[in-house]
Amino acid sequence: MGKTTDKQVIILGIESSCDDTSAAVTCNETILANTVAGQKVHEAYGGVVPELASRAHQQNIIPVVDQALKQAGIRKDQLSAVAFTRGPGLLGSLLVGTSFAKGFALASGIPLIEVNHLQGHVLALFIREPDQEYHPPRFPFLCLLVSGGNSQIILVRDHLHMEVIGQTIDDAAGEAFDKCAKVMGLPYPGGPFIDKLAREGDPLRFRFSRPEIKDLDYSFSGLKTNFLYFLRDQLKEDENFIEQNKADLCASLQKTIIDILLYKLVKAARQTGIREITVAGGVSANSGLRAALQEEAAKRKWNLLIPKIQYTMDNAAMIAITGYYKFLKGEFTSQDIAPFARTQL
Ligand code: KG4
Repeated sequence: MGKTTDKQVIILGIESSCDDTSAAVTCNETILANTVAGQKVHEAYGGVVPELASRAHQQNIIPVVDQALKQAGIRKDQLSAVAFTRGPGLLGSLLVGTSFAKGFALASGIPLIEVNHLQGHVLALFIREPDQEYHPPRFPFLCLLVSGGNSQIILVRDHLHMEVIGQTIDDAAGEAFDKCAKVMGLPYPGGPFIDKLAREGDPLRFRFSRPEIKDLDYSFSGLKTNFLYFLRDQLKEDENFIEQNKADLCASLQKTIIDILLYKLVKAARQTGIREITVAGGVSANSGLRAALQEEAAKRKWNLLIPKIQYTMDNAAMIAITGYYKFLKGEFTSQDIAPFARTQL
């Protein structure tokens, strides 16, 4: 990018809440670069190891930021502010991004903006791609936020005003995918593997338990236990049960998770009268969930907006775009803040 004008707000976004180190550059709503370094080191452990994650973030953060600035064609002195994920997430991982962002802002003499990771996921649909049509959601809208750590229905009144109207009381939908995948011997994270295998299977072959939880809340721990006990019983009869039925198990499990998610989303849409519906978070990459949402949207006349796959996973583009809206409102952060592992929207 060449010369910038006063009206252009250029944000460097930093995301390091879990096991992806990501940096992005936005100019107003438009994304100029979004770089992500994943961490393969956790694959051998069947889950993210916090200590290894923070060490890998330390190695990755400078190259990732450098690459994002180069890709965007932006010099450090052109940046308006640095936005970073303050939480929720793994404390050691968050500390790396937070310390980097603080140091960078101080050295560059630009403001620092803290971003709630969950708010970033919700606002991912406001990222504008250069030279592409732009149809962000209209307020108010409902967002089904489904990731490895969260399952929530959020009522979004404007960019910075959001209310959680339903949420899981135990496990998140992504955890249900990952834990059940582990029981079947699939690699971590298991969600994408279940998604792939489910395409070949019969979703009606097995029936797993659906929770009876009040209001708009979710629960997934009962399903996980039900799945575990079902497999344990079947394996007593036939030790090859999982291998021989993997696709059907994946399809049936995935259908159960999708049914649970959609039941409460439909209820929320009915209760609020809102038909502008969005989805966000890692689990929104699931092809079965996307298809089921589209079917529901056609039936119920929803205006459904689904983010591109690269913006459903943890990424700094969503942190930069949230930083942009906070910049416009003058919502800056002081140098003496610390990250937080747990928080609400
Ligand atoms: O949002 P995210 O990248 O990370 C956080 O939780 O912050 O979400 C990761 C979760 C994991 O549980 C992963 O298994 C799940 O998203 N996931 C999927 C798919 N892709 C990622 N679950 C089901 N189907 C997928 N295609």
